[in-house]
Amino acid sequence: MTQIDRLFNEIDPDSGTFSFDENVARVFDDMISRSVPLYADVQRSIPMLAGLLEHDPIRVFDLGCSTGTSLIHLSAMLPDRNLELIGVDNSQPMLDQCQQKLDSLELPHRIETICDSVQSYNFENASIVLMNYTLQFVPESDRPALLRRISDSIRPGGFLLISEKVAHEQPAMDDAVVELYFEYKRRQGYSELEISRKRDALENVLVPLTTGQNLQLIHDAGFAKAEVLLKWFNFATFLCRI
Ligand SMILES: C[S@@+](CC[C@H](N)C(=O)[O-])C[C@H]1O[C@@H](n2cnc3c(N)ncnc32)[C@H](O)[C@@H]1O
Repeated sequence: MTQIDRLFNEIDPDSGTFSFDENVARVFDDMISRSVPLYADVQRSIPMLAGLLEHDPIRVFDLGCSTGTSLIHLSAMLPDRNLELIGVDNSQPMLDQCQQKLDSLELPHRIETICDSVQSYNFENASIVLMNYTLQFVPESDRPALLRRISDSIRPGGFLLISEKVAHEQPAMDDAVVELYFEYKRRQGYSELEISRKRDALENVLVPLTTGQNLQLIHDAGFAKAEVLLKWFNFATFLCRI
């Protein structure tokens, strides 16, 4: 089960860049819920949006599913709907944590997990594609083709939900917002050392685009309707339909 995230207090700052390895997987649920503003609201919005669909079954692909939080939540909140829940992640340690959680729960639906990269996994006939805080880790050059494959896979009426850390159009805003974000992390109990070490480790690993650039990519991939559903300074959630 997830442990309290003290990772960047413990690790040697010279030990390299951030990856979703065993150390991160062990503390991931605590890490993401304390590091990503509006994370709980995004999770709450998923079954709410899914419940509006008339598809039967509702086939959900969670790309970068990590420890399965969204799929578990969907199953628990929509017990009477016919859900096909498929999680894809290229980190086996994250999927091992997911499996531990699944083994400890009695859910009304089966959740299938697949260890693969989102660039190569072949998904089709989707009612819902979730990609929360994952696109930012995909190389920028791979993003257009991935989004195009997602839009080609979505059934009429279905949707894609993307959440990302975002940069600001005006560079001066970025500096101001980074300070606000650090303040947020301090309030969540992270120390200066943890905040600055994590920032260094994520440099060039997490590559954010601006809200406008993300919307352009989404439109170019074939989503005619896309809007910002939730936003907290440098975090945004996009709801995208064909
Ligand atoms: C920040 S986490 C996602 C959090 C999760 N969606 C949630 O809402 O709890 C990013 C996840 O994406 C996975 N990931 C990153 N790049 C990937 C890729 N190219 N293919 C598959 N999974 C990837 C990582 O292993 C990690 O588990």
